[in-house]
Amino acid sequence: MQEKIKQFKNEIKEKIENVGSGDMLESLRIEYVGKKGKITETLRQIGSLPIEERKTVGKELNILKKNFEEALKDKKAELSVTTKKPATDFDYTLPGLSKRIGHLHPITQTIQEISAIFVRLGFEVVAGREIETEKYNFTALNIPLDHSSRDAFDTYYTNDGNLLRSQTSTVQVRIMESRKPPLSIIAPGKVYRPDTVDANHSFMFHQIEGLMVDRSISFSDLKGILHLFLKEYFGAQSKMRFRPHFFPFTEPSVEVDVSCFKCKGKGCSTCSHQGWLEVLGAGSVDPHVFEAAGYTAHKYQGLAFGLGIERMCMLKNGIHDIRLFFENNLKFLNQF
Ligand code: PHE
Repeated sequence: MQEKIKQFKNEIKEKIENVGSGDMLESLRIEYVGKKGKITETLRQIGSLPIEERKTVGKELNILKKNFEEALKDKKAELSVTTKKPATDFDYTLPGLSKRIGHLHPITQTIQEISAIFVRLGFEVVAGREIETEKYNFTALNIPLDHSSRDAFDTYYTNDGNLLRSQTSTVQVRIMESRKPPLSIIAPGKVYRPDTVDANHSFMFHQIEGLMVDRSISFSDLKGILHLFLKEYFGAQSKMRFRPHFFPFTEPSVEVDVSCFKCKGKGCSTCSHQGWLEVLGAGSVDPHVFEAAGYTAHKYQGLAFGLGIERMCMLKNGIHDIRLFFENNLKFLNQF
């Protein structure tokens, strides 16, 4: 009998270790402690044992039974942890939620594209201020008090007499006051004008100013730089033309047109059948501006130009309404 108990013990230990499911556990229980189980049967046979053996064998068998039942319980708990069914019907194989990755605004992209071209031509990118004084927006740029753009209704003034700059040309005198020539800079940024908003106008838009100053800078430098820029931006076949114009801070001044990149100058809806697109204002720096910056007037020569970022982006991408840039409409923005 002792031998049998020992054998049960070893068997049970090994079998419990190998149990991998609830069903296996249940059949193991039945095998030993079910109605006709091995331990149950053996317990029944105790009565036929000699009286002195009954007590010890009975005790040992009962301990074995108790330990076995406890081991079953432990195993059950262990199995329930590893094979527990999920609390919901969540499908772990479904693809996850992907995060949408943003991108730069088309205006920022255009600023970067244009800046990169001028940087390759040796220009340095500098920052200007959006809130300016009358000096940098007007007086130092040779714009007299009675000039119509100084009208209170043509510019945003703050209560303390400052204003939101109406052009990036403000950077010209600021940079010349802080540095000595030679200098060649571009300054991208926002400008503000009290324009009524429509497809081509906005109270805020972006410009890039360019300024180059040295002892001998000629009008042909201006032509060369701008033609190179326009060919880079609109395509190698682009032609350029200068039309006489007036700006108070450049003399002579020009408006610059580029041949229509769509129709190659033949005339189409992009260029209103003109064959040319007006893209920027430019000229040689007026000696009055050098004086305002504290430079000796005829010691230096310079060229300056200014262009509108929105217009450049609209022309190149066939965008017909400037308001699209500022409405945060992802259907529009995601195309860039
Ligand atoms: N500041 C001018 C404008 O806003 C553009 C310009 C810049 C013209 C520099 C000449 C030289 O229209």
